[in-house]
Amino acid sequence: MKNIRNFCIIAHIDHGKSTLADRLLEFTQTVQVTKGQMLDNMDLEKERGITIKSHAIQMEYTYKGEKFILNLIDTPGHVDFSYEVSRSIAACEGALLIVDASQGVQAQTISNLYMAIEHDLEIIPIINKCDMASAMPEEVEDEIVELLGSKREEIIRASGKTGMGIEEILSAVIERVPAPKGSDDAPLQALIFDSVFNSFRGIIAYFKIENGVIRSGDKVKFFNTGKEYDADEIGVLKMDLLPRKELSTGDVGYIISGIKTSKEVKVGDTITHISRPCDKAISGFEEVKPMVFAGVYPIDAEDFEDLRASLEKLQLNDASLTFQPESSLALGFGFRCGFLGLLHMEIVQERLDREFDMNVITTVPNVSYLIYDKQGHVKEVHNPGGMPDPTLIEHIEEPYIKSSIITTTDYIGPIMTLCLGKRGELIKQEYISGSRVELHYNMPLGEIVIDFYDKLKSISKGYASFDYQMDGFRTSKLIKLDILLNGEPVDALSTLTHFDNAYDMGRRMCEKLKELIPRQQFDIAIQAAIGSKIISRETIKALRKDVTAKCYGGDVSRKRKLLEKQKKGKKRMKQIGNVEVPQKAFLAVLKLD
Ligand code: GTP
Repeated sequence: MKNIRNFCIIAHIDHGKSTLADRLLEFTQTVQVTKGQMLDNMDLEKERGITIKSHAIQMEYTYKGEKFILNLIDTPGHVDFSYEVSRSIAACEGALLIVDASQGVQAQTISNLYMAIEHDLEIIPIINKCDMASAMPEEVEDEIVELLGSKREEIIRASGKTGMGIEEILSAVIERVPAPKGSDDAPLQALIFDSVFNSFRGIIAYFKIENGVIRSGDKVKFFNTGKEYDADEIGVLKMDLLPRKELSTGDVGYIISGIKTSKEVKVGDTITHISRPCDKAISGFEEVKPMVFAGVYPIDAEDFEDLRASLEKLQLNDASLTFQPESSLALGFGFRCGFLGLLHMEIVQERLDREFDMNVITTVPNVSYLIYDKQGHVKEVHNPGGMPDPTLIEHIEEPYIKSSIITTTDYIGPIMTLCLGKRGELIKQEYISGSRVELHYNMPLGEIVIDFYDKLKSISKGYASFDYQMDGFRTSKLIKLDILLNGEPVDALSTLTHFDNAYDMGRRMCEKLKELIPRQQFDIAIQAAIGSKIISRETIKALRKDVTAKCYGGDVSRKRKLLEKQKKGKKRMKQIGNVEVPQKAFLAVLKLD
């Protein structure tokens, strides 16, 4: 145990975590890296450059004649997966804090750092990408000193590209990160920090032993779910799974116990023995709950069952994805899916498309709302369509976030205007260095799921980073805004919005839909309504679009071809009452200026 070091790498997205991890694996001869990155094995991850799922890998390294086991626990960098990050961090004693030498400290650098400090991790600050011409190691060093209060000589300058600083990092891990604590004699207590689905072996759960010893064949119990299993196989993680007879305190390993779906294994749960259980679970366990919801509908109604099968398959290795059937008057039969956040939603959409070849449309995302009725009952609603009659509602609560935005002083003004428009409350403003500032805002989550990231990126020309954490529910004056086409309400276009924004939003929705819906043979009235009150109206003038007019007389076959073409074009339209609505109109609210 005294020669084990468990550590993770924390960094803002793209600061070079995977590349640096590869260099460590290469230097310790754990792998022969030829090209590409070894840690990210899903195609999609490679393309996006984001480590979606955390992994762990064991290295061996001889330092001053002594052999050490170094367990590198990889953490996902994105805010949607912050609970997974927190569990990976909880399994470690130390963290490499990587900061890009040209970008400096960013929002996720800070949020991940706070998590590491909360778990008492030894932090080794590293300035990465020092090979770049635009590197500013002095400035970044100042920021790190300001942030951590560390001594300058403790900060390592490195490059994942050239290999600079790699040996120094390994020495620092051994010298500075404490060995794991705990006792082999105590009852077994192992923290599950991740799990993956394997189609041959079922679920492989990754754990770190806090106390005790586990042997293959042991009868074990998962503390929070209460389920019991046989430890069919245990072992350590190198590039492959290496089975072992026994693992003890401080070790990081895996367990295979015949579990078929990821829903059964909860990250953050504690493994213990049935015969001699530990008396309490490792603290910090949480049920991750989806916070963002959207309707996912097959474009072709016949694909409904295939879509269900695809979602079920996705759920096998993604326990945080939820779905239940719903129907929409406008879109037919589909599913209301729950996601951890927007990135998670995009990943699911892309996987449906690539891995399952499913052609779907996704409705505008929304958050979950708590509806209190006049009898004092609370109902959680995931869809504006599921709102009860407004006269029965006492009040509505919506989820709030605490967010942090790091930017340069040039963009403070426009960012503040953006946040104000999103009902943000500025809590404080702190300077990180002379020209860089961190803004703390409380905001409704519902406002950022729509178009916040894109707007922030464009107004700051990319010089702003954003991170948030959930901060409970608050009462808000929310109302349902309906859209009617020729007098027919279109459920898929309803949104919940704040009372103060409703009129403006109604007007802009009508204007946008006027642009998106093509002219038809009759006038189309587009109306926005709150309850029975119409608050805005636009009209699309009738147009007789006679495509055959050009083919004067004679050529029948050409005429027929054109008509067929026109019919095909119509297929991607949805018929709502007598109005044909193109798919893109269902996302109109995302496109408001
Ligand atoms: P996420 O998984 O998205 O958080 O990214 P990451 O932090 O793992 O970053 P990754 O290692 O994928 O590197 C991001 C980009 O920076 C890639 O294009 C790398 O080629 C590049 N990069 C990484 N390290 C270095 C470095 O030391 N020097 C230079 N010049 N480029 C680097």
